[in-house]
Amino acid sequence: MKRHSIKRIALNTGGGDAPGLNAVIRAAVVSAINRGWECYGIRDGYNGLLEPKNYPDGGLIPLPRSKVRGITHLGGTILGTTNRGNPLKWPVKGKDGKFHEIDRTDELIKAFRKNKIDALVAIGGDGSLGIANILSQKGLRVVGVPKTIDNDLDKTVITFGFDTAVSFATACIDRLHTTAESHQRVMVVEVMGRYAGWIALDCGVSGTADAILIPEIPYTIRTIADKIEERWKMGAHFAIVVVAEGAIPKGGTLSVVSKEIGRAEKLGGAGERVAKEIQEITGKETRCVVLGHLLRGGTPTTFDRLISLRFGAAAVRALDEGQNGVMVALDPPTVRYVPLAEATNRMKCVPITCDTVQTARDLGISFGD
Ligand code: F6P
Repeated sequence: MKRHSIKRIALNTGGGDAPGLNAVIRAAVVSAINRGWECYGIRDGYNGLLEPKNYPDGGLIPLPRSKVRGITHLGGTILGTTNRGNPLKWPVKGKDGKFHEIDRTDELIKAFRKNKIDALVAIGGDGSLGIANILSQKGLRVVGVPKTIDNDLDKTVITFGFDTAVSFATACIDRLHTTAESHQRVMVVEVMGRYAGWIALDCGVSGTADAILIPEIPYTIRTIADKIEERWKMGAHFAIVVVAEGAIPKGGTLSVVSKEIGRAEKLGGAGERVAKEIQEITGKETRCVVLGHLLRGGTPTTFDRLISLRFGAAAVRALDEGQNGVMVALDPPTVRYVPLAEATNRMKCVPITCDTVQTARDLGISFGD
């Protein structure tokens, strides 16, 4: 019995971009074309289908083999992406001038049908894959590919983009060691990671930081100050403190800059807050460097390229095997399919007893607790 009637698939990229997206796109498109399928790309998440008039190319673009040639090593996404425009919570301005949110998923399903799209490869983080799960429940054949530099998606050992972010952050910390030592300063490095501290943890240990502050372990600034003063007494007149943007002081709150309708709150200021308090308490000259979106850009590492190519090919293989409503997931040494509903219902935060945290503590790194 034929497992499916796929002739035409669409791909889209949603949420924050990550190095490796183009490698996923290339692998999925080449794998599909090698099966005789046609491929299309939706612009900016789902916006290209929901608001086609906003796009000169119509929002849904053909992806022939030539379109994906030579993009494996390119950061970003040739389709564009967005952190706004969630079809489940589409912001519209009412007559009262106030914004409220509407569900446009039924309209989206109709747009897929109108464009004769038989299946979707949805490449995204928890938000995008949550949308993909709803579309699958509404009758669209969907396979998800887990993407985020935060590595906070459950059911997959790792997401592509994470290795590139950690590698770049570690190289930045190496550079900050020399200037911190030369000026006898404390350098605070703020990295991305809104609710999970994986980037801060891995780059902090790899970059031999003296303290790492992550959302999972609320910190006491006095403890960090004591660690710094202990270093000075030992003759090491500099220190490196890595802070996840979602780090929270004990009894305190997230460092939020703004909140817009239809979007998660915009975080910022966690590193500056820590730097200011360290300088006030210890009297040591302290500076803060925010790596921010530098961690989202650039060419993917070899590790991320390979994971991305494997994920893209696996997504098409899953569709060809008749799978629906699943996400490809790395389960070394293989790539498995996990139900989207399971993959998106829990965020993968840092277990505070995990081996990397224990390694950090054994190396004398403080978590401020
Ligand atoms: O989810 C990935 C991520 O990079 C987070 O680490 C960060 O807080 C967020 O995206 C930033 O989103 P934006 O690019 O919309 O500012």
